[in-house]
Amino acid sequence: MEPILLRARGEDKPRSISTHLRLGGYSAIAKALVMSPEDVIAEVKKAGVRGRGGAGFPAGVKWGFVPKDTSKPKYMICNADESEPGTFKDRELIHVAPHMVIEGIIISSYAIGANTAYIYIRGEFHREAEMLNQAIDEAYRKKYLGKNILKSGFDLDVIVHRGAGAYICGEETALIESIEGKRGQPRLKPPFPAVVGLFGCPTVVNNVETLSCVPHIIERGGEWFAGVGTERSTGPKLFCVSGHVEKPGVVEVPLGTTFREIIEVHCGGVRGGRKLKAFIPGGSSCPILPANLIDTKSDFESVAEAGSMLGSGGVIVMDETVDMVWALENLMRFYSHESCGQCTPCREGSDWALDIVRRINSGHGQPKDLETLERISRYASRGMTICPLGDAFCEPIASFLRHFRAEFEAKIAAGKPVPRRKQPILPVRSSQGLFGQEESV
Ligand SMILES: Cc1cc2nc3c(=O)[nH]c(=O)nc-3n(C[C@H](O)[C@H](O)[C@H](O)COP(=O)(O)O)c2cc1C
Repeated sequence: MEPILLRARGEDKPRSISTHLRLGGYSAIAKALVMSPEDVIAEVKKAGVRGRGGAGFPAGVKWGFVPKDTSKPKYMICNADESEPGTFKDRELIHVAPHMVIEGIIISSYAIGANTAYIYIRGEFHREAEMLNQAIDEAYRKKYLGKNILKSGFDLDVIVHRGAGAYICGEETALIESIEGKRGQPRLKPPFPAVVGLFGCPTVVNNVETLSCVPHIIERGGEWFAGVGTERSTGPKLFCVSGHVEKPGVVEVPLGTTFREIIEVHCGGVRGGRKLKAFIPGGSSCPILPANLIDTKSDFESVAEAGSMLGSGGVIVMDETVDMVWALENLMRFYSHESCGQCTPCREGSDWALDIVRRINSGHGQPKDLETLERISRYASRGMTICPLGDAFCEPIASFLRHFRAEFEAKIAAGKPVPRRKQPILPVRSSQGLFGQEESV
């Protein structure tokens, strides 16, 4: 497949507006702005493009939920938080095609009637925030942003809002709270942001990649887009492949390409000629799959049938040398650190799971530990928490135990406690000084 989203890769100055214009960029805006917003939404629905941020919800359907009969302002938010381990495709899009992202934001804002759009970008993406700001300045100078865009009467301002590096702020309602200046903690849904979102107004949140598909849909038609990929998972998809492959990186393929092709053809296969042990198909929160499922197709339905999720397309490849207990401990460390602490099952469960997996990994596991882990993974998921972060740490637990239970049992059975390093006992520091006495520290 000819690259669509990554077509500017390899260009001398991929981020400049002149490159974008030379490659046909910004022509979709001219096309969209003479269509009615309803027709733009209809075209995106026809394309069947599903959200690339993790949940796979159809973008056109989401846009259709925004109420028309309201005097409130509406907002468009581009989610560039990208904090899921194993996911780095949005960063690549910002590197090679920031104007494509902006063009998608302009068209989607027009479709839902928003005159202000935000790009919420994770705190660690300093350079990427700078790249976006430069591209936005260029777009203002060329009158693709601002007042009366291309003399259509449509106005749009785009603001880059930097987060502070919290995974939870990628969840759309926590992200909204964060833009509002509050602590980034998810809101209960319903109401959904499309009805009550930023500052209490109708808001659409879409992923960078989802929005980058939009100019191509308008330019080449919904039908063309629907013809790429499979019947229910349409379009091109970026997969970020990391871990034990020869050529890690971001690849663009039609949805439905097998993971074997992604790993072996596009990424040069498992590094050093070793055997594949397992892969996580959609970012660290998606269930792990064993090597024998490598021929699974990378569309939403096939991955679900195989027992996992397509998520954000972060393919983490593990070769035969990986110790699965260690790998799960690694993941639990991330989730227990990133739980926002609002819901007890997630706050306590993720810490508890980390303690147990760490204990097993260090040779102190107990026979009942696996049952306890399974109980935690049942009680903190499936709607027991306000947002899906509960599921995000439970799915790895359940799937690691489903496919690699024997490794956990073996570590428990070996029962050879690895001697713990002695930790120096540090004095407690407080404003009162050591043990309550005045002291400068
Ligand atoms: C804990 C958590 C983290 C998330 N992080 C991201 C993220 O970094 N980027 C993103 O686009 N979506 C993320 N999402 C999904 C968003 O809530 C939302 O579904 C998405 O931005 C909608 O865009 P889409 O429909 O285009 O996929 C996250 C969800 C959860 C529960």
